[in-house]
Amino acid sequence: MDDASALYIGLISGTSADSIDAALIGFSRGVPQLQASHAHPWPEDLRSRMLALAQGEGALDLDAFGRLDVQIGHCFADAATQLLERSGTPAAAVRAIGSHGQTLRHRPTGEYPFTLQLGDPSVIAERCGIDVVADFRRADVAAGGQGAPLLPALHAMLLARPGHARVVLNLGGIANITALGADGSVFGFDTGPANGLLDAWCLRQRGEPFDRAGAYAASGRVDAGLLDALLADPYFALPPPKSTGREYFHLDWLAARAPRATLDPADVQATLLELTARSIASAIARHAPQAQEVLACGGGVHNNALMHRLGELLAPRVLLGTSRYGIDPDFLEATAFAWLARQRLLGLPGNLPTVTGARGPRVLGAIYSAPAARPA
Ligand SMILES: Nc1ncnc2c1ncn2[C@@H]1O[C@H](COP(=O)(O)OP(=O)(O)O)[C@@H](O)[C@H]1O
Ligand SMILES: [Mg+2]
Repeated sequence: MDDASALYIGLISGTSADSIDAALIGFSRGVPQLQASHAHPWPEDLRSRMLALAQGEGALDLDAFGRLDVQIGHCFADAATQLLERSGTPAAAVRAIGSHGQTLRHRPTGEYPFTLQLGDPSVIAERCGIDVVADFRRADVAAGGQGAPLLPALHAMLLARPGHARVVLNLGGIANITALGADGSVFGFDTGPANGLLDAWCLRQRGEPFDRAGAYAASGRVDAGLLDALLADPYFALPPPKSTGREYFHLDWLAARAPRATLDPADVQATLLELTARSIASAIARHAPQAQEVLACGGGVHNNALMHRLGELLAPRVLLGTSRYGIDPDFLEATAFAWLARQRLLGLPGNLPTVTGARGPRVLGAIYSAPAARPA
C-alpha cells in the first residue's frame, strides 16, 4: 500500500475561496515534500455565489444544492488536471488525491453539530482516474471535536524543534495558530478572522477581491470605538478548543457592531486589520506565552501592512514567513490534505484531540475509488 515513490495531490479552497490550491506531494520517510503547485482560479460567478451562501445570504433548494456540489467537484477536478498537465505528471504516478472541498457551513457546536464541504469526490475520481479521499472533518465532529483546525499535526511534523517553543500562524480567511511546545506538545485553534473580513470590506468598497499588500488599510486610521466593539465579541475570549468560519465573521457581523454608519471606509479597513492583528497577538500571548518565534503561512503573509503590525504586536517574539524554513506559505494547507489522504490510506489518524477536542484520534476521510483500469 505504501509505495515510497507514490505521489499524492492535495486540493483545498479555504474560507477566502480565492483559488483552489493544488499541491503535488512526494513523501520522504513519511514527511511530505512539495514537488509542484498550481493555484486554480474559480469562475467569478461561482465564487461570488459560494461566498454569499457561506455567509448565510440566499437560500438553496435541494436541486440547486446537488448541482452546486457537482459543479464544485468539476472545478476541483480541473485544478488537479491542470496540476498534472503543468508538472508533466501522469495520473498513474499519483496514489490518491486528498480533496478538502469548499466549506459552505461550519457549525461544530449545538445539538446537531455539523460541518459541510462541497465538491463531489466521485466526480474528481472519475475525471482524474485517481482515488480520492475526501470528507476529512466529519469524523472528528462526530467524535465531539471541532473538525478544525486540521493543520497542526503537519505543522508539528514540519516545524517543531525540540527545545524551541514556536507558533505556526496560518493567515487564511480565518486565522489559526498551532502552538508547538519546547517539550513536543502541540495545541492549536482558530483565533478569529484573518483576511476574510478585510477581503469582504475591500470588495464592497473598492470592487477588488482583496487589499493588495494592505495598502487600503494603511491609508486609513484605526477607529478605537469600533475596534473595542469588535474585540468585545465573546468568540475572542472563548477558551479553546474552538473553530469558526465565514458564517460567523462576515459583513453583517461587522455592521451589527459598528457604532456609527458615518465612518470613513478606509478607517474601517484599518480597524479590521488591527482587529486581525490584535486578536492573533493576544491569543498567542495568552495561550503560547513561551513562544520565541511565530512562523506565518497562508495568503496573509503577502499583506505587508498586516505582517508589519503583527510584528510590532508580537515583539520581542520574531515573526517570520515559513519560507524562511523552506516551506511555501501558499501551499502548506494543500500539502496537509495530501498528507491526510495518505494517513487515510495507511489507516492512521489525522486529527489531534488536543487541538480539536475530539474524544480521541480518528482516521479521517472516506475513499472514493477511481474507475478500474480497463483490461488491455
Ligand atoms: N498580495 C497580497 N496582498 C494582500 N493580501 C493577499 C495577497 N495575496 C493573498 N492575500 C490574501 O490571502 C487570502 C488568501 O489566503 P489563503 O491562505 O488562500 O486563505 P484561505 O485558506 O482562506 O483560502 C486572499 O483572500 C487575500 O486576502
Ligand atoms: Mg485560499
